[in-house]
Order: sequence, then C-alpha cells, then structure tokens
Amino acid sequence: MTEQGFSVREIDTSRPHPARMYDFFLGGRDNYEVDREAAQRVVDIFPDIVPTTRANRRFMHRTVRHLAQSGIRQIIDIGTGIPTAPNTHQVAHEVSPDVRVAYIDNDPIVATHAGAHLLGAGNTGFFLADLREPATILGHPTIGKLIDFDQPIGLMLVAVLHFVRDDEDPAALVAAYRDVLPAGSMMVISHATSDFHPPETGVEDAKDVYKDREATATVTTRPYEQVLPFFDGFDLVDPGLVQIPLWRPDGPTPTAEELSHVGTYGGIGIKV
Ligand SMILES: C[S@@+](CC[C@H](N)C(=O)[O-])C[C@H]1O[C@@H](n2cnc3c(N)ncnc32)[C@H](O)[C@@H]1O
Repeated sequence: MTEQGFSVREIDTSRPHPARMYDFFLGGRDNYEVDREAAQRVVDIFPDIVPTTRANRRFMHRTVRHLAQSGIRQIIDIGTGIPTAPNTHQVAHEVSPDVRVAYIDNDPIVATHAGAHLLGAGNTGFFLADLREPATILGHPTIGKLIDFDQPIGLMLVAVLHFVRDDEDPAALVAAYRDVLPAGSMMVISHATSDFHPPETGVEDAKDVYKDREATATVTTRPYEQVLPFFDGFDLVDPGLVQIPLWRPDGPTPTAEELSHVGTYGGIGIKV
C-alpha cells in the first residue's frame, strides 16, 4: 500500500481511463495499451483533441499564475490529472513559494505518481476522492491540514466537469463547493464544448469512443449557456468566459485559425 492507502493492484488496465487518455493526448507515457488504443481512435476521428488538450494545459498555467499573483495562498485542485510538469504548485511557487495546494483526483494512477511529483514541496497534499462527493473532499484531513476556510481559496475545476453527466447535476456540485468558499475566493473552470466544432469535425464520434470502449467516465460537452451558470455567485474576471486561448494569452492574440482547433471554454470567477 502507498501513503494514499491504495495498492498498485487497483490499477485497472481493462478499460480506458480519461486521466490516462489525457496523458496520451499530451504526449505522456503514463498510459496503458487500452488507453492508447482508445485515445488514438479519438485522435484519428477528432484530431483537434491534441491542440485542445495542449491549450487547456497552458490555460491551467496562466490561471494558476493569476491566482497566485492575486494573493491566493491556498488552492484546491480537483481532477488534477497525472502529474505533468509544471504542476499547479510549481506554477504557483514561481510567484510565491508559500502557496499551499491540495490535489484531488479519483483515478488511482494519479496516486502512484503523486509522491514523486506533487508532494515534494511540503506544503502540498494529495488524496484520492471523487468530485461528485463534496462532503468527503471538504471533510478530508488533508484539506483540514492545508486549507483555512477563513482565507480566500483558489478552487480549480479544470477539464473535469465535462466528465460529470447532466443527471449527476454538475451545477449542484459546483454550488456545494462554492458555498464553503469565503468571499474573495477564486474559481477556475475549463470545460469542453462542441460550440466550435460542428458534427462533421468528428467531435460527436469522438465522445462516442468513451462510451463504446466503456471508459470509466464519458464526456459531456456543453454549450456556452450551460457552462456560464457554473459561475453563479461569482463575478467573472476579464475577459470573462471565453475560448481558452483568449483567456489572457501570454503572447500575441490567437488567430482565428488557432481558435478553430480548440474546443474548450474557460474563465475565473471571484466569489462575491
Ligand atoms: C482531462 S484531465 C485534466 C487534468 C488537469 N486538471 C488539467 O486540466 O490539465 C481530467 C482529470 O479529472 C479526473 N476526474 C474525472 N472525473 C473525476 C471525478 N468525478 N472526481 C475526481 N476526478 C475526476 C480524471 O481522473 C483526470 O485526471
């Protein structure tokens, strides 16, 4: 057993796992044959998955930097993914080494890599838990150790809510986390959308791969009007909820050509 109370025998290599497929899209090696086959199928029918995932990771970097530069000193990162440098705490620590980060994911593969890549700094923690169980996450001892609910918190829900189905009520889940955040806290969301990809781009067929291969979670893309309400109770910071390359780009304004390959919305809200 590892420190996270989990045995490597629990790694399931019989079904594709979204965390491991995402790792494949990003060019990582922490995936298995079953993941590679499914992920390659997604790439074949919807090649824009690759620029989309890369743009998402860059969005994550820019938004974490923004949190730290805005004075946030504690972050809860749910659905953190297989560690891919730089991770949340590394980006935050470039701004301020005293930022504390609680990492959460429900995939055991993340736990196998957490010790080496997420926990080195002393002011970080990781535990396995499910976004769909807010009480378990919020009551976890690692949260108790790292997070002070009287101080502003950064909540990251980056590329994870689209793994929550409509019947699981993602808005109610986001609200459960929102309700414990003190005013001035900041929430980062990115979310897959089909708004920029008509069906002939393969986006719908790509989602079917997750279903057909019985991946451990399926993908629900959502239009702008369904992503925006996740920010109820928050003021969006400029430039609002946008296609992610448009969220405070580091370099030149993304071109229409670049944007046409990215199917994700993102934004940051400040709790009012
Ligand atoms: C696409 S990756 C995103 C990783 C990282 N947040 C990023 O944006 O680079 C989605 C992650 O969310 C995790 N995940 C999916 N559903 C989850 C759930 N219900 N609870 C916790 N984690 C979940 C997956 O295991 C995976 O690691």
